Amino acid sequence: MAELALEHVGKVYRNGYEAIHDFSLEIKEGEFLILVGPSGCGKSTLLRMIAGLEDISSGELWVDGEIENYKEPRERNLAMVFQNYALYPNMSVYDNIAFSLSVRKVDKKEIKKKVYDTAKMLGIEHLLDRRPGELSGGQKQRVAIGNAIIRNPRALLMDEPLSNLDAKLRTQMRVELAALQHAVGTTTIYVTHDQTEAMTLGTRIVVMRDGKMQQVDTPANLYAKPVNRFVAGFIGTPSMNFFEAQVVSWEEAPALLVGEYRMMPCREDAARISRHGSDSVILGIRPENILWEAPECVSAGADYVETMILEVELLGAEKLLFFLLYGKKYVAKIPAEYDARAGEVRRLYFDVTAIHLFDCDSEMRI
Ligand SMILES: Nc1ncnc2c1ncn2[C@@H]1O[C@H](COP(=O)(O)OP(=O)(O)OP(=O)(O)O)[C@@H](O)[C@H]1O
Ligand SMILES: [Mg+2]
Repeated sequence: MAELALEHVGKVYRNGYEAIHDFSLEIKEGEFLILVGPSGCGKSTLLRMIAGLEDISSGELWVDGEIENYKEPRERNLAMVFQNYALYPNMSVYDNIAFSLSVRKVDKKEIKKKVYDTAKMLGIEHLLDRRPGELSGGQKQRVAIGNAIIRNPRALLMDEPLSNLDAKLRTQMRVELAALQHAVGTTTIYVTHDQTEAMTLGTRIVVMRDGKMQQVDTPANLYAKPVNRFVAGFIGTPSMNFFEAQVVSWEEAPALLVGEYRMMPCREDAARISRHGSDSVILGIRPENILWEAPECVSAGADYVETMILEVELLGAEKLLFFLLYGKKYVAKIPAEYDARAGEVRRLYFDVTAIHLFDCDSEMRI
């Protein structure tokens, strides 16, 4: 187990492309850290630099108090698990798991015990004689994980390890992986582009965009207090709705106008808007905070929009309402029991206690 730190790490590829920009982060011993962001934002680059598969252009990688920028991958003793399983097709599951110990000439008896213990932990002890070609995707990935953890690496680096699996198996493996990591206690960095996966797995999540860190936080804080519009839109499904709102004064308090509709922010938000002092802001509201029926605390004549429902999509316990406002499409998520129909014109209420405010230019949270 190890403690890792990145200090002002940067990566410029040989063609001049800057894939990582001034990235700093500390990963505690035994932590399960998730790295999430859209395709191309630099997640794999960062992981490969930690593993030693890619040079670090600037900054420092610290592992347990030592700078390891120039150590060979082997010397770093960090195990990497990839999306495609990287198993030896002609070797049995047993030999695949045992591989890293066999090449180090570890005692055969000891290898045998470790392979059985590891396979048992992963629930694949009945598959040891098979070859990778005779396994399902989930089983193959378990073998790859077994191969990674058997040699007690200082940290586990996982690059989208579940993305080749179907949705149901992915959910199941996700739960198993979290439990396994908890049991083994190995410091783990887990890369995914899937925010749902990040939210369910992580104790701490790093959100990246264009090679830059946006926010490091717990799932709950990322959801409740995204630092900018990008994080707000990236975390949560469906994505947050954004409206440009004019700041006006209504009965001596700040109010927000979305077109002709007036929203009366709660006292804290009102104070924030006053302090910010600009005449327009971006108002963000999650689909689940747009309501079918008026909440108890609604201000008279405010906190709603009148809209035409375009489509209704049933998800199970909830349904999505797609609606049109000033030519743009938005979405609300309401309990399935409400009888919403496409083509209907009606009021939808904004839960103003749950709105998010961003600066129009910098897009930072206000
Ligand atoms: N060898 C390379 N030379 C130049 N540019 C590269 C190289 N490898 C990757 N890149 C670029 O660096 C950026 C980051 O790539 P990276 O593979 O780290 O993204 P990622 O976040 O892992 O994306 P994905 O979710 O699609 O796997 C991309 O724009 C990519 O095109
Ligand atoms: Mg990648």
